[in-house]
Amino acid sequence: MRTIEWDKEKEAVKFIDQTLLPREYKIKECKRVDELIDAIQSLKVRGAPALGVAGAFGVVLACITETTKEAVKTQVARLEKARPTAVNLAYGVNRAFNAAKHGETTAEMKMYALAEANQIAEEDIAVNKKIGEYGSELLDDGDVVLTHCNAGRLACVDWGTALGVIRTAIANGKRIEVISCETRPLNQGSRLTTWELLQDKIPVTLITDSMSATVMRAGKVDKVLVGADRVVKEGVLNKIGTYMHAVVANAHNIPFYVAAPLSSFDIKSSYKEVAIEERSPDELIFLGKEQIAPLDVNVYNPAFDFTPFELIEAVITEKGVVRDVMDFEYKL
Ligand code: MRU
Repeated sequence: MRTIEWDKEKEAVKFIDQTLLPREYKIKECKRVDELIDAIQSLKVRGAPALGVAGAFGVVLACITETTKEAVKTQVARLEKARPTAVNLAYGVNRAFNAAKHGETTAEMKMYALAEANQIAEEDIAVNKKIGEYGSELLDDGDVVLTHCNAGRLACVDWGTALGVIRTAIANGKRIEVISCETRPLNQGSRLTTWELLQDKIPVTLITDSMSATVMRAGKVDKVLVGADRVVKEGVLNKIGTYMHAVVANAHNIPFYVAAPLSSFDIKSSYKEVAIEERSPDELIFLGKEQIAPLDVNVYNPAFDFTPFELIEAVITEKGVVRDVMDFEYKL
């Protein structure tokens, strides 16, 4: 199935529980906003575009469970803030809520919100296919592409942004291999990127995050390609570790690309204005149930970092490849 979709019969949002992968493939469903917020915060559903769709379906849930417009609005405000960094969450929530406002009753609001949420989900796939077409032109037959975190179909409704570019290039007859960084501390690279690439029989090699400099210096990487949680006026916010790979790629003259839909763009904002999610110290103190650090150690655990445009060769969007920062406003 798609990573996330609406179940018409059950009136529920259904998604692949990403905390269980790769051990177990399980579909989870939520009928209440509280459950969905918990799923978002625990990363059962994750990745910027998937968060946008989750937020939009969350508005539908609010219209079903609440009896007044005011109560729906309260739930919408909670949903929008469930995670702060990926702008897609607010984008999806606001689009669905603005559509819902056309309704008089909560039943009518639900109808409008659902139509919009389904539309956002469909657009996500079409947009990723476009990103794939533009981005695949940048890849050469035989390329080894290093990626970080998971910007694949699991981070979207389907196809993926960065991994969608790789899928399209392969569909166009190019031989591409992937190096996936494990992406500590939650291991989206080792758990999710490797899993979904292996499902598609795309060759992938797993490395730890700290090995990227060594593999780049050894000439084992032709391009670096990642997704984005938010594109701001000076650069890109993405999973913690992205900046490190960009610095290393630049030091070795390896092109560093970002694939991102326009729904991830917040070009009027500065990175300084964006809240970087800080996650629980437990993510570093424990590995699963095993304690791997002293319980009372001081922990710093930001989930995202900022990479300036100076380090980015190009951003691949559904409207084309943007190489010049000054071009961004024009493309939008
Ligand atoms: O914390 P996550 O797993 O939601 O972080 C996801 C990422 O950082 C992805 O790289 C980003 O959302 C791009 S997804 C196409």
